[in-house]
Amino acid sequence: MLILGVESSCDETGIALYDSEAGLLSHALHSQVAMHAEYGGVVPELASRDHIRRVVPLLREALGQAGKSLNDIDAVAYTRGPGLAGALLVGCAFAEALALAIDKPTIPVHHLEGHLLSPLLSRDPPTFPFVALLVSGGHTQLMRVSGVGQYELLGETLDDAAGEAFDKSAKLLGLPYPGGALLSKLAETGTPGVHELPRPMLHSGDLNFSFSGLKTAVLTLVREQGEDLTDTFKADAARAFQEAIVEVLVKKSLKAMKQTGLKQLVVAGGVGANKQLRATLNDEAKRKRFRVYYPELEFCTDNGAMIALAGCLRLQAGTPAKEAGDFAVQPRW
Ligand code: KG4
Ligand code: ZN
Repeated sequence: MLILGVESSCDETGIALYDSEAGLLSHALHSQVAMHAEYGGVVPELASRDHIRRVVPLLREALGQAGKSLNDIDAVAYTRGPGLAGALLVGCAFAEALALAIDKPTIPVHHLEGHLLSPLLSRDPPTFPFVALLVSGGHTQLMRVSGVGQYELLGETLDDAAGEAFDKSAKLLGLPYPGGALLSKLAETGTPGVHELPRPMLHSGDLNFSFSGLKTAVLTLVREQGEDLTDTFKADAARAFQEAIVEVLVKKSLKAMKQTGLKQLVVAGGVGANKQLRATLNDEAKRKRFRVYYPELEFCTDNGAMIALAGCLRLQAGTPAKEAGDFAVQPRW
C-alpha cells in the first residue's frame, strides 16, 4: 500500500510517500519561516498563498525521489486540522482533487496524531506504549500513546505553547522571529541565577502547563531594565527564562513517567531541539532508569512524512478510507 501524505496546517508544506512494507520512500518539505520572519510571526494569508505555490513542485519532487508515478498511489492522507483555516484548505483541496483524479480514497488526519506517531519514522523507534512530550510553536502536551488511535491526554498548556513562549520572550529581548533557537544560544552565554523567573504551575499537582505568566515576567524584567538592553542583561535574562521553562517541562515529564509507570519518553516538536532540555532529561532518565527518544529533527517539526505514516497506520488499524471529493477542514479540531 502506497500512501501519499500532505501537510499544510501552518507554515510548512510537506509531501511524502510512505509504503506499508518498505517504510518512508521520500519526503519533500518547504518551510516558510524566512518569509514570515519579516513580519515577526506567521501571516495566515501569505502562508496559504505559499502553500499553493509549493504543493505541486513538492509532489513532483517526492514522486521523483521515490521513482513512483501518480498511478502507484493507493490513498491520499492529509492534515484536516487543527491549524490555519486557509492553509489547511490548500492541502485539503489539493489532496481531495488529486485523489478524485486518480480514483483513490482519502484519509483525513489529525495533525497531532501525525506528531504522536512521528517517532516511529526514526531509525531507532520506541515501541508502544510510551509517553510523548509534544513541545512545538503551537502545542504543548503530555500524552500516553498506547497504540494507533489510543491516545490519552495527560496534560497540556492552558495558554501559550512552549515554543510560543520561547519566541515571544526572544522578541522581548530584541531577537528576530522565530527566536526560540537564538534565545537558547544566547542563554548558553548567560550566568545562571542573576535573575529569578517564576516556574508556573510547577506545583499544580497535575500535568498541565501555563507559560503566559513566564513571558509576562520577562516583559517586567525588560521594562525594569529601561531603554538600552546590554548584551550581558540579554544573555542572563535568556538564561533565566530557559532555566525556568526547562525545569517545568522536565518536572512535568518526570511526573508523567511516574504516574504512568512507563519506561519510554518521546520528545517531539521544535523545542525538543533545545540543548538544555535534552541534557536535563537525559540526566534524569539515567537516574530514573527510563529511555528518552528524540526523533530526527526533520520529523519533529511539521512534515508530510508523519501524515503519510499516520494515514497508513490508520488504514492498517481498520479505519476506513473515505471516498475522495468531499472537502472540509477542521481548524479547531
Ligand atoms: O515543531 P515546530 O516546527 O513547530 C511548529 O510548527 O509549531 O517548532 C517550532 C518551535 C518554534 O517556536 C521555535 O522557536 C522552537 O520550536 N525551537 C526552539 C529551539 N529550536 C526551535 N525552542 C527552544 N530551543 C531551541 N533550540
Ligand atoms: Zn505541528
